[in-house]
Amino acid sequence: MSGPNTQYDPVEVSALDPAAVDANVADALAAIEAATDLDALKAVRLAHAGDRSPLALANREIGALPPSAKAEAGRRVGEARGRVGAALRARQEALEAERDERMLVDERLDMTVVAPRRPLGARHPISTTIERVEDIFTGLGWEVAEGPEVEAEWFNFDALNFGPDHPARAMQDTFFVEPGDAGLVLRTHTSPVQMRAMLTRDLPLFIVCPGKVFRTDDLDATHTPVFHQVEGLAVAEGLTMAHLKGTLDRFAAELFGPHVTTRLRPAFFPFTEPSAEMDFQCPICLGKDPACRVCGGTGWIEWGGCGMVNRNVLSAAGVDPERFTGFAFGMGIERAIMLRHGVPDMFDIVEGDVRFSTQFGMEI
Ligand code: PHE
Repeated sequence: MSGPNTQYDPVEVSALDPAAVDANVADALAAIEAATDLDALKAVRLAHAGDRSPLALANREIGALPPSAKAEAGRRVGEARGRVGAALRARQEALEAERDERMLVDERLDMTVVAPRRPLGARHPISTTIERVEDIFTGLGWEVAEGPEVEAEWFNFDALNFGPDHPARAMQDTFFVEPGDAGLVLRTHTSPVQMRAMLTRDLPLFIVCPGKVFRTDDLDATHTPVFHQVEGLAVAEGLTMAHLKGTLDRFAAELFGPHVTTRLRPAFFPFTEPSAEMDFQCPICLGKDPACRVCGGTGWIEWGGCGMVNRNVLSAAGVDPERFTGFAFGMGIERAIMLRHGVPDMFDIVEGDVRFSTQFGMEI
């Protein structure tokens, strides 16, 4: 049994007075009632039921009382804390219910409102056709190569056996890049990639290079100053014109269907010998409409040039023309789209109207 508590100081435990405890409870209940939202109630809970609240401090004082007074004070403080706790819980529930109700009103969604529709874009047929061409050739074991659109005049012309006086260099065909003596042009065809490929890759080589090319043409139903070509180049031992024709036939059949009519016409390109132009029968008029805007009434669509790589070009690339031969071709992508989808006017292709592209569906 402990003896008399000599440290007992009646001033210190005035917090345990019934009047003081009642006042604390009254304060707490008033504050709880005054809390109008959950944040405010949280602050009230800390002040009136937290570790440093008057009632918690009073509770701690009980230990300092003489044993005879402990039970009485303990009951009083316990009851007081119980009332405050119950009031806090009740207020908490009421405020939560209020908040939930408010949320239901504030965050109400009208599921019948028509949502603003944003139409999806569509891939342009130039992109999808280029990918299709790449697929066809990679399926044959060829590789896809690239070259710059701003090209050295040397790669665009000289390396391809264009003499210095060749008319294709003249201002009316070629966009020259300033300053005039920079030796740079916007490539007029994808053929410069032939030389770049031969200089950087091992033989034998089989590459296709799709890309943009530029010529100072006016925009009309069949021409545009910026268009796309796909270049093909094969260099190996024993390649002949028959391999070229076979490759082109396979290409055309894969792209346009197995029954496409084509023809080769003798032609001249400085970088191929012999050379040919390749035409497709006009799918719009099938040669029957002399006023056809696509074929100009000829019944055929010029699709590109081709030929056996000129031995001068092989030599310039350091390839032995006695041992290796090569063939090359270059085709217009826009022409392929017009042919494949019956687009009669180049304007539709270059205009960039999404309604044009969406007609091609989800081709990937
Ligand atoms: N580069 C030529 C053109 O744009 C086409 C071509 C490519 C011809 C390859 C022969 C060989 O007209």
